[in-house]
Amino acid sequence: MSPQDALRAAVARLRAAGVEDAAGDARRLMEHAAGITPGLLSTQRERVDEAALARFAGLVAQRESRVPVAQIIGRRAFFGRDFRVTEATLDPRPETEHLVEQALAEPFSLVLDLGTGTGCILLTLLAERPGSRGIGTDISAAALAIARENADCLGLGDRARFHHGDWLEGLGMDGFDLVVSNPPYIAGSEMASLAPELRLHEPRAALTDEGDGLAAYHVIARDLPEVMAPGGRLVLEIGHEQGETVPAILARAGFAEIRLHRDLAGKPRIVTARAV
Ligand SMILES: C[S@@+](CC[C@H](N)C(=O)[O-])C[C@H]1O[C@@H](n2cnc3c(N)ncnc32)[C@H](O)[C@@H]1O
Repeated sequence: MSPQDALRAAVARLRAAGVEDAAGDARRLMEHAAGITPGLLSTQRERVDEAALARFAGLVAQRESRVPVAQIIGRRAFFGRDFRVTEATLDPRPETEHLVEQALAEPFSLVLDLGTGTGCILLTLLAERPGSRGIGTDISAAALAIARENADCLGLGDRARFHHGDWLEGLGMDGFDLVVSNPPYIAGSEMASLAPELRLHEPRAALTDEGDGLAAYHVIARDLPEVMAPGGRLVLEIGHEQGETVPAILARAGFAEIRLHRDLAGKPRIVTARAV
């Protein structure tokens, strides 16, 4: 079978399985199978040999069962850097790059990232701000192992530390002038309606608190003032429906300068605030 025929057949199979971007995903998987740089399939098609086609068939079968592309190829680009991704970590989302942009808008030297997953937020901030240091926490030891690996691969192992715990429990450090978090904010009742990629393959504890999706914000707002430097900044990702509730939780906890930021589609996406 020629690469073109294999690609066409794969797109048809992925479409039939309900994959949204069947053509884009099939191309990315063929590039991965043939060791071609993403985006260069059309100019390097001669590299797709028999062995690559056999590997491609296996990758397509995984995607057909709705395993996310990032988990299949084990990598995801985030803010221009490459992160290792496994079934233990949330696949970093392009939307979360808005959080990074907000965090980079002001100075910081000591960062706390609550629920670090792959470490994509913390490690991007440290890479973009030379000399800064930070800690990423997570309740998942498996995710923290991947975050550590990403820190080492990006040459940030000496500036990033990781802590295993339930939000701020046992952190034993304070003076953070920047705290960031993209916590699980999907309500338990919404889980059944999610796409299979999320529902079946992403770590459930990365998506939902099994309650109303606000549990993490309550804990973070309650416990953070203890560990933040006066005037330190908080930058949180939120769900589209949480543009009123999360600012209200922060206001009750005594945070100042609470602002809601919308994404390009006009939907609430980020809340920033300042510790007093
Ligand atoms: C939405 S994911 C965000 C991952 C990463 N920061 C990102 O933006 O791609 C939420 C993360 O919070 C972690 N988490 C969930 N409950 C937690 C808890 N009680 N304490 C600490 N981390 C928790 C999950 O394991 C997951 O890695």
